[in-house]
Amino acid sequence: MGDKLVLTGGNKLRGTVEVSGSKNSILALMSAAALGKEDVCLSNIPSNSDVYTMAEILRSTGVQVRFGEGCVYINGKDIVDHKPPYELVRKIRASVYTAGLLLGRLGQAEVALPGGDEIGSRPVDLHMRGFQTLGAEVTVEHGFMICKASRLTGANYYINKCSVGTTINMLLASVLADGVTILENAAKEPEIVDTAILLNSMGAKIRGAGTDTIRIEGVRELHGCEHSPIPDRIEAGTFLIATAAAGGEVLVTNVLSEHLRIPIAKLREAGAEIIEGDTDILIRANRRMKAVDVDTAVFPGFATDLQAPFGVLLSQAEGAGIIRETIFDNRFRYVDELRRMGAEIKVERDTAIFRGVDRLSGAPVEATDIRAGVAMVIAGLVAEGITEVSGVYHIDRGYERFDEKLRNLGADIRRC
Ligand code: UD1
Repeated sequence: MGDKLVLTGGNKLRGTVEVSGSKNSILALMSAAALGKEDVCLSNIPSNSDVYTMAEILRSTGVQVRFGEGCVYINGKDIVDHKPPYELVRKIRASVYTAGLLLGRLGQAEVALPGGDEIGSRPVDLHMRGFQTLGAEVTVEHGFMICKASRLTGANYYINKCSVGTTINMLLASVLADGVTILENAAKEPEIVDTAILLNSMGAKIRGAGTDTIRIEGVRELHGCEHSPIPDRIEAGTFLIATAAAGGEVLVTNVLSEHLRIPIAKLREAGAEIIEGDTDILIRANRRMKAVDVDTAVFPGFATDLQAPFGVLLSQAEGAGIIRETIFDNRFRYVDELRRMGAEIKVERDTAIFRGVDRLSGAPVEATDIRAGVAMVIAGLVAEGITEVSGVYHIDRGYERFDEKLRNLGADIRRC
């Protein structure tokens, strides 16, 4: 039996919470760092289980990964194996980055295809087409994506659908390729900019990250450097939404508010008072939030990873609010769990209509994925009575000490 989080709802949140380094960034940064043949030191790393899984995956290919105090050293000089084990790869979606890494460094990669998961079907067709554009032969055999290239050559690639993973994988595969690669319709998420900054510090020549056209001029070798990931904008957004839902006053530190423009605008529209500092955000929520409508979108739009937490806020806001999920095809699974707590939600295809109830009531619920998991915890914070959240390993995959941070803000939450 895994851990459970047991919450007694009703406490307002008060105090200061420090956000960790970005989970999604660090997984890309670790893969990027392994492209080099010298030590890359990544500091301020989040301590969550996805980071340790990624470390194991990289080690399985010969990459040296050493953890220090809050940091990790990565060196790809001894990378030899192009086939990381299926049992590790299937644990995290970001393992797909090893395809770009191994193809870029060894000219071959054999990586298990990710299946669908809790948030929808998760194809990698765009990754594969991108590798082919660089001259690799890519096939699918026995559940593995098999990529081979005697030499990768820069090319123009228009990414049909804006995809974070594809953009990162193309950066990884093309930085050591011959010639110039141009990615069009590239994703613009801050984690992509972060990855490009690290690679440039290692000697890569990447321009335009953060816009929809990225230019990568291949270089022969990459060297060592030091780098810190950006703050985790999703963790920061989660604490802002939790405070708006539960009420109270919280200073969220180590956060860049330009990464959260739309979520902040939506929280203000719902009635929260928000004061933005250079690297912190103060949120005050002294009354019941009003319902608002949200469409998830690629950056700088409302992040799909904040959709479930925001759904909890709407489930007991004043009035009716609508969420349209435009990124993933099955991201309303948490709704069934919320209904068990008394929420009134109607789902039609990509749209969920929330009619706010006065108060959710505590119940045993399940975390079905990372973000749905933290959403259940927020529901437990605001519900009347006791909520038991199971499937906590999902939350631990992406959040560092989430329960401890909430307890420090006054939440009644314990792990058992
Ligand atoms: C990343 C994030 C995830 C976030 C998501 C969207 C990591 C580890 N994960 O996931 O937290 O929710 O971005 O911001 O950083 N698609 C295809 N074919 C492909 C690739 C993607 O059709 O080959 C589709 C997906 O099914 C989805 C959309 O493109 O509908 C966006 O996916 P993508 O941006 O690639 O998400 P991930 O990189 O998997």
